[in-house]
Amino acid sequence: MKQQVGKAAADRVQSGTIVGLGTGSTTAYALQYIGERIAKGELKDIKGVPTSFQAEVLAKQYNIPLTTLDDIDHIDIAIDGADEVDPNKNLIKGGGAAHTREKIVDCLATQFIVVVDSTKLVEKLGSTFLLPVEVIPMAKTPVMNAIEKLGGKPTLRMGVKKAGPVITDQGNFVIDVKFDNIENPAELEKTLNNIPGVLENGLFVGVADVILVGEIIDGQPKVREI
Ligand code: A5P
Repeated sequence: MKQQVGKAAADRVQSGTIVGLGTGSTTAYALQYIGERIAKGELKDIKGVPTSFQAEVLAKQYNIPLTTLDDIDHIDIAIDGADEVDPNKNLIKGGGAAHTREKIVDCLATQFIVVVDSTKLVEKLGSTFLLPVEVIPMAKTPVMNAIEKLGGKPTLRMGVKKAGPVITDQGNFVIDVKFDNIENPAELEKTLNNIPGVLENGLFVGVADVILVGEIIDGQPKVREI
């Protein structure tokens, strides 16, 4: 499912465009197919803007030329994954702790395409996934206290095969928050970002233009557009 949806997104990239390169296992397939289209000569004059160290490494591996936000004045298309997608195309992102750079790049794109498998579709945000909040390390305790006052249950994300907390590409921590109900994602996004010490949270409200959903129908992988 992830492979098919990544390929479907890569097929929408046109020559001569600036492309936001998302993070995660689904987007990794899109980057691979963009690289294959470049190698075949089908796609020319592309510039990629990576949303993470992972995206940068993959882009280099697949020979996708890179640029930075200092050197461009727009992004034509961004392709990125998500952890949850609601019926209004609002998202939770940040499972890979990359949501801060992802939000910067995805929001700048004229068209933002989200690539997910069907397990990511939810009726209400927060129902299956914790909400990631990137926080400056010295502020972690007051931020966690403030989040508890908002009704959330915060946990500091810990590293795997690394002692201590996960460190983001910006050198910060991630707090994962369980909210019983996210009734108003737009309001919660702003409220969280207003807590001193919070850099960015994983709610993406009104940013996605197209959702490509990979699903298995009659034993075959198919891609549906929302
Ligand atoms: C990275 O921080 C995330 O926002 C990813 O885009 C998201 O977790 C989706 O990743 P997968 O495609 O690996 O599920």
